[in-house]
Amino acid sequence: MTDLNTLESDVLAQVAAAGDLQALDAVRVAAVGKTGSISGLLKTLGAMSPDERKERGAAINALRDRVQSAITEKKASLEAAELDARLARETLDLTLPGPYRRKGSVHPTMQVMDEMVSIFADMGFAVAEGPDIEDDFHNFTALNFPEKHPAREMHDTFFFEPKETGERMLLRTHTSPVQVRTMVSQKPPIRIIAPGRTYRCDSDATHTPMFHQVEGLVIDKGIHMGHLKWTLETFIARFFETDAVTTQFRPHHFPFTEPSAEMDVQCDRSGGEIKIGQGSSWLEILGCGMVHPNVLRACGIDPDEYQGFAFGMGVDRLGMLKYGMPDLRDMFASDSRWLAHYGFSGFAAPNPASGLS
Ligand code: DAH
Repeated sequence: MTDLNTLESDVLAQVAAAGDLQALDAVRVAAVGKTGSISGLLKTLGAMSPDERKERGAAINALRDRVQSAITEKKASLEAAELDARLARETLDLTLPGPYRRKGSVHPTMQVMDEMVSIFADMGFAVAEGPDIEDDFHNFTALNFPEKHPAREMHDTFFFEPKETGERMLLRTHTSPVQVRTMVSQKPPIRIIAPGRTYRCDSDATHTPMFHQVEGLVIDKGIHMGHLKWTLETFIARFFETDAVTTQFRPHHFPFTEPSAEMDVQCDRSGGEIKIGQGSSWLEILGCGMVHPNVLRACGIDPDEYQGFAFGMGVDRLGMLKYGMPDLRDMFASDSRWLAHYGFSGFAAPNPASGLS
């Protein structure tokens, strides 16, 4: 009869001596594999008397378990050693110059944002900011969204897990909450733009889950639609760097403005590319309107004394139009070839002093 103690110390010695995962696996197969030495012992149990089988069977099973756990332990240590060796072998000196001497470039979204800030700064607008993680009040309620408005649903909005109080924070779905934050913290007259990131659960050629907007807000006495129209027409002509651009205002609905409108630019869609300033098609580029009295009230401003207008536009979309990029998703794919092609020189960044590049 095979001496279990000798077998065990033999197999354990082989396990200990295995220098790599392959050698260890060979030891495993030879011991506890289907035709291995320990599995073979189990097969001999059938020929034994019940008493003998009980005692011998328990001893063999215990031996098999000890060998198995020695193998598992050894495997973990070999894997850890292999990982350490690989990490040591593959160290990368990040201070060395890369193999491709490609110059960094300014992302088109940032370039377009700087262009917008420059144009509005020239018209006397200040830049305001707000948090990306918002609460329901600033993103919806203060902006006069009715309780069951579809934009509040999971469909569009990325919600966080509810807090203990039941309050759910969210990723702002637009830059309009910065209007609220500004009106609550500043007294009119107000003239701000709020550029920043926004988030919606959406993805196709013209939508990405994260995108950028610029919000605008003007609050003062005697403000009317004429001021809104001039401001936006002047902005668009400067942004597209041509006086030839024709725009139209179309009635629309936003909860936070009354009346509300969308502004379209005239464009040519023949030939697969969109060209601004010619042709007979229209392309929607922004939403706007007169700030709703309920929004003014929610922010502690008396609508009988002050009026204002607001607008919001998609930065990435306007950039696509101006610089001819076909797919919005490419903008955030971090493909260095795309960035090299569409990126801008850091020395050409527009600013309020120098104007557009
Ligand atoms: N917040 C709107 C959106 O994301 C855009 C917008 C429309 C902003 C009209 C405004 C506005 O300030 O007056 O679709």
